[in-house]
Amino acid sequence: MSDPRQRRLDDGSIVRAAPAKLNVFLRIRGARDDGYHDLESLVLPLSLADTVTVASADALRVDVGGDDAFTSAVDAGGMNLALVAALALGESCSGGPTGATITIDKRIPVAAGLGGGSADAAAVLLALQSLWGCGLDTETLLEIAARIGSDVPSMVLGGAVVLRGRGERLEPVDVVPTWWCVVPFDFPTRSPDAYRWWDDQGGVTGPDPAPALDAIREGNVGELGRLLHNDLEPVVVARHPVIGRTKEALLDAGALGAVMSGSGPTVVALARTELHATELAGAFPGAITVSAPWSGAGSVG
Ligand code: C5P
Repeated sequence: MSDPRQRRLDDGSIVRAAPAKLNVFLRIRGARDDGYHDLESLVLPLSLADTVTVASADALRVDVGGDDAFTSAVDAGGMNLALVAALALGESCSGGPTGATITIDKRIPVAAGLGGGSADAAAVLLALQSLWGCGLDTETLLEIAARIGSDVPSMVLGGAVVLRGRGERLEPVDVVPTWWCVVPFDFPTRSPDAYRWWDDQGGVTGPDPAPALDAIREGNVGELGRLLHNDLEPVVVARHPVIGRTKEALLDAGALGAVMSGSGPTVVALARTELHATELAGAFPGAITVSAPWSGAGSVG
């Protein structure tokens, strides 16, 4: 079956959309012995996406282009997740080629809670699997993805997904299309810090997510807006009050609901329609209007 997120060019290289994600709810069920936390989170892929291109080459190399602010942040992080993904796939793709030039056109803000690095890693796995002809089954790809990062398996699978465990137990969900106003900030937050703050502050687990799942399955967006939730939000807002103020301002401006995504700092606000999302975005500098879940249709064609 053809994948709307991916296209092969005449020269044999593969272009793939790498959608960002938002977390409709993020519940932390508890700390684990391995330093991670057991989660329960509904993740939606967004129409905000990086573009990953992989081309045959003798050696492995990653070039990051796009928004200057984001590329310098990726460089500062040293070895990025795209390279980690390529090396991991190369190990499992025995006998085949393991060289490629990977070009990433960045549009997703870095360290923002939108899964940008994980999206690139997932796209690299899937694009290189095509380029190199690895022929690995989905289960094997998902295992490799889980080793790279907790958000990567759900992004390899694509679509709206409830993730559990560390992020490797995936349940696809049928959801109605929704429109969102995404408000990024000019400072990053780090996931290990956010989870540690949650531990230090007594680790409160949020409400049963069943009503939120019902609301998004049934298309009751008004109800969904009231049920957006993130257990990491209070502990991150305590260190970065501007996140809380922005959330309040979005609600005052008429958003159906607003919540910090992932480990922050980005705040996402649910809108009634595309027009409503665009109106909200117009009132917040740097804000982006996105739809979710996004299939990638038309993005690389
Ligand atoms: O898996 P990933 O590398 O994205 O995780 C980054 C950090 O976020 C982990 O080192 C851990 O501190 C925290 N984390 C967690 N539990 C999860 C996912 C991430 O504690 N399920």
